[in-house]
Amino acid sequence: PNVTIIQHPLIQHKLTLMRREETSTAKFRQLLREISMLLAYEITRDLPLRKQLIKTPLGPMEAPILASEKKMVIVSIMRAGQGILDGILELIPSARVGHIGLYRDPRTFIPIEYYFRLPDDIEEREVLVVDPMIATGNTAVAAIQRLKQTNPLSVKFLCLIASPEGIDHFHSYHPEVPLYTAAIDDHLDEHGYIIPGLGDAGDRLFG
Ligand code: PRP
Repeated sequence: PNVTIIQHPLIQHKLTLMRREETSTAKFRQLLREISMLLAYEITRDLPLRKQLIKTPLGPMEAPILASEKKMVIVSIMRAGQGILDGILELIPSARVGHIGLYRDPRTFIPIEYYFRLPDDIEEREVLVVDPMIATGNTAVAAIQRLKQTNPLSVKFLCLIASPEGIDHFHSYHPEVPLYTAAIDDHLDEHGYIIPGLGDAGDRLFG
């Protein structure tokens, strides 16, 4: 399937610190910001470049800059996507930002939309959707479905931890959407939690 596990040692190390039960909210937030910068660095490594004529203080040169005409869009799935978004924006400060509000009904695990807002000209932009967890995959499937209605140039999905069940579910609906994750955990429990996972990312981030 269309999944990349990002293996960078700093990412793996920080993820372990985030998983630990004793990690405080302040530390969890800081780690999520750091790990998100590293993830963004890794997944942007093949962005196309073009040459631009510039002048340094000592003369002209043809220098590389990002080729895309339009700024990329980071779409945060609230609430927990916000933590990844903050980290990525430190690395890509000019990115545009969209928000999708979805919460999981605790009994049925069905995602319910409460907010949806994207920047203008979405048809001309590349989109990266971010959410720390893919558990059942229902949230990610719904978010991408909703996004596809707006016809963006391209879509990728970035998470921290995914379950095998969630990945299968995601790719049965959106096989062409590349999925990037720092880890694939063992399984889902009957409450729809990733085991061993890191608990409820939204709660650990916001309380
Ligand atoms: C969590 C997580 C994902 C979703 C994953 O959010 O951040 O959005 O669950 O679960 P799924 O793959 O089974 O759909 P939650 O619904 O707890 O909302 P919150 O971030 O606002 O706490």
